[in-house]
Amino acid sequence: MLAQVIRAERFGEPRDAFREEALAVPALGPHEVLVYVMAAGVNYNNVWAAMGIPIDVIKTRQKKGEPEAFHVGGSDASGVVWAVGEGVTSVAVGDEVVVHCGMWDEIDRQRPDPMLSASQRIWGYESNWGSFAQYTKVQDHQCVPKPARLTWEEAAAYMLVAATAYRMLHGWPPNIVRPGDPILVWGGAGGLGSMAIQIARAAGARPVAVVSGAEKNDFCKKLGAVGVIDRRKFEHWGKLPRWSDELEYAIWLKGARGFGAAFWDALGEKKNPTIVFEHPGETTLPTSCFMAETGGMIVICAGTTGYNATLDLRYHWMRQKRLQGSHFANDEQARGVNALVDSGAVDPCLARTFAWRETGECHQLMRDNQHPSGNMSILVNAPRPGLRTLAEVRAVQPPRAR
Ligand SMILES: NC(=O)c1ccc[n+]([C@@H]2O[C@H](COP(=O)([O-])OP(=O)(O)OC[C@H]3O[C@@H](n4cnc5c(N)ncnc54)[C@H](OP(=O)(O)O)[C@@H]3O)[C@@H](O)[C@H]2O)c1
Repeated sequence: MLAQVIRAERFGEPRDAFREEALAVPALGPHEVLVYVMAAGVNYNNVWAAMGIPIDVIKTRQKKGEPEAFHVGGSDASGVVWAVGEGVTSVAVGDEVVVHCGMWDEIDRQRPDPMLSASQRIWGYESNWGSFAQYTKVQDHQCVPKPARLTWEEAAAYMLVAATAYRMLHGWPPNIVRPGDPILVWGGAGGLGSMAIQIARAAGARPVAVVSGAEKNDFCKKLGAVGVIDRRKFEHWGKLPRWSDELEYAIWLKGARGFGAAFWDALGEKKNPTIVFEHPGETTLPTSCFMAETGGMIVICAGTTGYNATLDLRYHWMRQKRLQGSHFANDEQARGVNALVDSGAVDPCLARTFAWRETGECHQLMRDNQHPSGNMSILVNAPRPGLRTLAEVRAVQPPRAR
């Protein structure tokens, strides 16, 4: 099969790190499934994999006993079940599926939340044989039914970010999204943010999105944001100054209060967010922690701008806030968000579809924050955009090695 492969000697800018290579199709073990990939979604984790930071994914896997000296990434896919391993009963050859990226050992499946188990890993990032290849190897429970209304490229675009956002907003009781709640969503026009706005809206909440650039306002409002804040109007970003540095601290506080006032303006009411949807990390966390309502939650799944974060603990304990880490989603949550997509309540927000040879280029756009609002997909075996079923693909082009 053909794959877009990363090797350690090419770690660096994504446009140079990916290269097409011919590889053997991986063999299946028990409860594993081979999926013929129609389209693959583009996510930030293979920007990290391409750069070799914060971890070298190849070396990390080799330490766990997996010998391959390459990485086939890709943590989102739509496709057709091609073969099944021993013991697979939940899917059959020919099923049209979307793949979620949560993997865990057989024994951990019985846990109430396998995402909290030691064996949990992310397919196509911490595992090899992701979706940037003609065939991908996944565990059976990762496959959910493909929403029939979506094209292959739309179906490949949403699951990683949508299920992550779903767990962040619905997975941490009692701090879950409820009707009327004000919610602060960083990066509202990004992959996670565009899903968070819609999931919050579907629950009847009032999301306020933060973006850079006026052109992203309409995008967020169409998805259901009640207001939008342009973060470029503020300058207090980054780590907190030392509390004893009164001058610097006063400047920071003025910036944070100004941002708070902008939130109230955008919401149309003087209420603070019950949930702050965090992922930029180092530059925004001090403001997020300041902003959350008493008893509210800052839920965070990334540190895109850095992971050495600071917060003013005085606000944290006096107002009894919760700082909650969150990582992808379990099967139930993946199926929960898939139902929202299937019903049309959440749109995959596919912004652009790339050709196979552009795998490095679209990751570079993401790395440079130059990618379009929403999500991106790559056509793998689907011969052109706009097709929804295997039958439609066969009508255009019978399966063949490319
Ligand atoms: N743990 C998990 O399960 C999980 C799952 C999915 C993603 N992630 C991580 O989450 C992060 C975001 O992923 P994504 O797919 O949403 O990426 P994305 O599409 O690039 O969106 C991120 C958004 O962050 C905003 N941003 C960039 N720099 C910022 C800054 N200095 N301050 C505030 N906002 C900033 C940008 O919006 P504006 O420029 O418009 O503000 C951008 O649209 C990545 O690090 C990714 O690896 C983690």
